[in-house]
Amino acid sequence: MSYAKPARYQGEGPASTSFVHSGDANAEGMRLQKVLAQAGVASRRAAEQLIDEGRVEVDGEVIRHQGKRIDPTASVVRVDGVRIVIDQEKVYIALNKPKGWQSTMSDDMGRPCIGDIVAERVMSGQRLFHVGRLDAETEGLILLTNDGELAHRLMHPSFEIMKTYMATVNGMVPKIMERQLKDGIELEDGPVQVDKFEVLEVFEGKSLVRLILHEGRKHIVRRLLDEVGFPVLQLVRTDVGPVSLAEQRPGSLRVLGRGEISNLYDAVGL
Ligand code: URA
Repeated sequence: MSYAKPARYQGEGPASTSFVHSGDANAEGMRLQKVLAQAGVASRRAAEQLIDEGRVEVDGEVIRHQGKRIDPTASVVRVDGVRIVIDQEKVYIALNKPKGWQSTMSDDMGRPCIGDIVAERVMSGQRLFHVGRLDAETEGLILLTNDGELAHRLMHPSFEIMKTYMATVNGMVPKIMERQLKDGIELEDGPVQVDKFEVLEVFEGKSLVRLILHEGRKHIVRRLLDEVGFPVLQLVRTDVGPVSLAEQRPGSLRVLGRGEISNLYDAVGL
């Protein structure tokens, strides 16, 4: 038995029924309709109806009775097949990292870093980590979370999460470039292929291009565009998988919506 929990939860029962959580939890967990209501899926009454209709799954099993109690920190709950985040401790944030800031939670040299932006959250006990990095000179979307499994999968190359970048380069990019980038470009650490490429705008002798790729190697966009003769003047990451920056200003944080989190889970098969 674990003693790392409040005394009132320390029953004599087997370990599998002694999980801890907040709210009206007891040794057998929290009622499913309450979990759904807390997650913002529906009112308790409407949640009961969802259960009656066989639309709610817990750990892969459709639940049709009302008495079900679950551990919100461990169970996987889906409504209509879409995963719902039920663990109130989990945090999912989109940050627009400003240009000139380090993608680290602290910096030995005292340079501005994303840890400064989330300092209050970290001080209040949230153990946030950033999902991947951007160069200091690159602006754009970085996800922050305390959901280790999701973060791990989003960063792992095997899940091939698409990232979208907008790059400003000097000159006019020829039409043939799209084919070349999609076919693949040889870099010193191996080839890289772009999944999508388009020229969005040409202005004052510069081009604004959008690239989508599922690569996470260091400086990959800058190295790629250097290699084809169009060094990057400015670089912004606008999307990571299903999450977009949209109108978010540099330096701002945004808590992801339920739909965005479900889409992230979906993207990595969780
Ligand atoms: N590619 C780069 O060159 N820089 C980044 O920050 C991300 C991708």
